[in-house]
Amino acid sequence: MSKHHIEVTINGRRHTADVEARISLSDLLRDNAGYTGVHVGCEHGVCGACTVIVDGLAVRSCLMLAVQANGAQITTVEGLAAEDGTLHPVQQALLEEHGLQCGFCTPGVVMTLAALTGNNAKPSEQQLLGALSGNVCRCTGYQGIRRAAKRLACAETGEHA
Ligand code: FES
Ligand code: FES
Repeated sequence: MSKHHIEVTINGRRHTADVEARISLSDLLRDNAGYTGVHVGCEHGVCGACTVIVDGLAVRSCLMLAVQANGAQITTVEGLAAEDGTLHPVQQALLEEHGLQCGFCTPGVVMTLAALTGNNAKPSEQQLLGALSGNVCRCTGYQGIRRAAKRLACAETGEHA
């Protein structure tokens, strides 16, 4: 089967690969580039675990072909924390509000929230919760995740959580 040469930027690093047209972005990120923080659950766009940021937007990487991402800027959960280990505000909020348990859904939750709160966006709590309706979590009962979303919305508006 013929292969396609693609070049993407992942977490600020250039990455090139020769991939078959059928390869998903999630498989490229995990198997080819080694970003195993991209979790794959359902592989058909339902669970949200594979969510990454592509050119500023939250994308289900199991539904996007790697060749479609050619030339894109991609951020995975591995690219959020600062180099000195300081957590991204979304990660910190989830940590402090106990918004994770087994952690399988967590990269997708983090990336969904990070995409909406990036670039000085000021999403409302309802907007954040609406976006999170596409992220399935089987452990937490969602309350900690909801509190983290509320904290992030309040941080943007200056209100107290
Ligand atoms: S693995 Fe992509 S949405 Fe579930
Ligand atoms: S923390 Fe286990 S699935 Fe969400």
